[in-house]
Amino acid sequence: MKAIEIRNKYLKFFENHGHKVIPSSPLIPENDPSVLFTTAGMQPLVPYLLGEKHPEGKRLTDYQKCLRTNDIDEVGDNRHLTYFEMLGNWSLGDYFKEESIQMSYDFLTKELGIPAEKISVTCFAGDEDCPRDELTASCWEKAGIPKDRIYFYGKDDNWWIAGEEGPCGPDTEMFYDTGKPKCSDNCQPSCDCGKYVEIWNNVFMEYYKKDGKYTKLEQKNVDTGLGLERMAMLLQGKQTPFDTELFSPVMERLQSLAKNDDIASRRIVAEHMRASMMIICDGGRPSNLDRGYILRRLIRRMTRHLNKLQIDLNELPNLIELNVETLKEMYPELESHKQEIKDVIVAEKDKFMKTLNNGEREFNKVINRLKNQGINKIDGKTIFNLYETYGFPPEVTKDLATENGFEVDLSEVDKLFKEHQEKSRMGSDQKFKGGLAEQNEKTIAYHTATHLLNAALKKVIGPSSHQRGSNITTERMRFDFNCDHKLTPEEKQAAEDLVNEWIKADLPVTVETMKKEDALKSGAECMFIEKYPDEVTVYTIGNVSKELCGGPHVKHTGELGHFKIVKEEASSQGVRRIKAILE
Ligand code: SER
Repeated sequence: MKAIEIRNKYLKFFENHGHKVIPSSPLIPENDPSVLFTTAGMQPLVPYLLGEKHPEGKRLTDYQKCLRTNDIDEVGDNRHLTYFEMLGNWSLGDYFKEESIQMSYDFLTKELGIPAEKISVTCFAGDEDCPRDELTASCWEKAGIPKDRIYFYGKDDNWWIAGEEGPCGPDTEMFYDTGKPKCSDNCQPSCDCGKYVEIWNNVFMEYYKKDGKYTKLEQKNVDTGLGLERMAMLLQGKQTPFDTELFSPVMERLQSLAKNDDIASRRIVAEHMRASMMIICDGGRPSNLDRGYILRRLIRRMTRHLNKLQIDLNELPNLIELNVETLKEMYPELESHKQEIKDVIVAEKDKFMKTLNNGEREFNKVINRLKNQGINKIDGKTIFNLYETYGFPPEVTKDLATENGFEVDLSEVDKLFKEHQEKSRMGSDQKFKGGLAEQNEKTIAYHTATHLLNAALKKVIGPSSHQRGSNITTERMRFDFNCDHKLTPEEKQAAEDLVNEWIKADLPVTVETMKKEDALKSGAECMFIEKYPDEVTVYTIGNVSKELCGGPHVKHTGELGHFKIVKEEASSQGVRRIKAILE
């Protein structure tokens, strides 16, 4: 079964069970404070899991574009992906364990035709925070999974939370038995040997964790997630996602182009190319910070492995073209952003090639210095410094050093890289945590301020100015918008003054639910039209702003305080960025 058929079956099945199909949110979260990328289907739904009313009701389903960046360096093996699609269904205070489990069982066995004998499940074993989940186990038994394939584990395996704070709860995971022999007598779903593959996770989200303590949420939710690539791989009897139709055309093309074939390199190129394309398509651009840096790393790593495969880099646009053809049925937006995707990837590739050349010059300096000192060994710290300062990849340093008759001491390199990785990992965990937890007075006020600034810029620069992105923390807001020039001091002042004028006027902020078409007809602003379901919420501020938006917002603009632009700078081609604070 092709991936798109699995997706369609999934959405149809849950639609038939009373769920509304909502569109995927962009990979780059909109107005979400400091989250790098969307990493799970539940992420854009957090406000609704916490009790806000969703305009489409209490039963929702979607496919969500996701990116997880913790394992970038693992990509190349037979399973890791950064970009993936998550199918999900949610109950927002509606059905709970019994119905959720019955639907999952029916979908797997009846719709996908997986024999029940191939399914094992795991449940939460219980601890001081939450009792053993006997109900879930008995629901599974009732559905048709015998006791000996129902396992109980603790929080490490059967508890789901994003980060350290947020909605959470015990989960039940479904595993597919690949038929491989057990690796030991004790081989179980929790084992990593490859016999059991996790296919679906249903989280019974009835708790909120804060400062290490759990409290009950007002409503009992269900949040499920099923990884599409993995399911396609299993149903097609393939060993890796790279053997499915999602990757095989590009994998085969790479093989035919490679003068020095290597399967891990081909996987890296195929995976990073797809991930980069999806990020760029949703508005991401390479930079040295946060998500821009992730995109930069993906494109650079891809370029390096194209070099390793000895594939002419001028093939890049053709490879992108092929990938658009492969994926456009699933993501039609790739077709309309095709040129932009090519331009961004090729420009970044060119920049990287320059870095490589500069790095090589620096490398030669280092080598000469060492030679003059009579040293013929290059140590880990030097290799790491070349990487950190010039972006020069360690494996290239290693190759060149060997060619120059140098010994390479790699013992330190791993350690330094691990430390470096650990730091960036901590950074992204921190970010994720922030994103889910930090919905407080301050971020809500900043959120309303972005609407006001958007409206002000339209007046100052002209109606063609649109929001291109935003990012909010408790300390400041960042707002990206189209504009072909650096704002003059007068323009900046005028925008700031307008926002403050509207704040002073203490305009009411109102929300209404309406049909998407009606909202657009009424002139409401909207950044990603595809993102929104047919029923949308529209926030109106006095008579100055009207935007499609999930909220939340303040009730009156007077709550914002004083608005001040602290910086205006270029963000990318044709896009400017304003940083502003509320004092
Ligand atoms: N949030 C859970 C997960 O990411 C279920 O969707 O696995």
